[in-house]
Amino acid sequence: MLRDIDRILVDEHEIKEICIRIAKEITEDYKSSDKRLVLICILKGSVVFTAELMKHLCLPVEIEFMKVSSYGSQTCSSGMINIHLDIKREDLSDADFIVIEDIIDSGRTLNHLVNYLAERGANSVKTCTLLDKPSRRCVDFTPDYCGREIPDEFVVGFGLDYNEKYRNLPFVGVLKREVYETK
Ligand code: PRP
Repeated sequence: MLRDIDRILVDEHEIKEICIRIAKEITEDYKSSDKRLVLICILKGSVVFTAELMKHLCLPVEIEFMKVSSYGSQTCSSGMINIHLDIKREDLSDADFIVIEDIIDSGRTLNHLVNYLAERGANSVKTCTLLDKPSRRCVDFTPDYCGREIPDEFVVGFGLDYNEKYRNLPFVGVLKREVYETK
């Protein structure tokens, strides 16, 4: 697996520092709120980041899971989002939600989810991502909490996959071209 990695982009130490920094920001922002704080982990990629991030939060926090996928045209403006797994609770008005992602690419997934949760009556909705590729953006979207912006390269590890592999790598690395170009 390691031999498929061209180079490490974000190492274990930096990822931990990012999680500590964002957890401090979230703790500061929500410490005075009287609502429940709910992290929504977007399967599958954000499982590892969500788990590391929540260890550093100094607040009572709940966790939910959603699974979504893009469908339709892959041209920038016309993609749609399918929700395969939704949060079960009916009343969202008693909670502040933070949607957690491993990476933002076009921005469509988070843009859609923020609108969806707001329409369902969430008290508030914010977004958090480990990685952001702003150069790939199709919709105007900026996350509230961001670990690091990265260039438009094929990255895997710390939850991110290629054909479901590499999610367990403890760092984020650039995949060698020959791995995905020969398939
Ligand atoms: C990735 C990532 C986000 C989405 C971002 O998920 O985890 O959910 O794509 O892309 P966008 O900004 O263009 O909407 P993916 O579909 O690869 O699923 P996975 O997390 O199960 O690997």
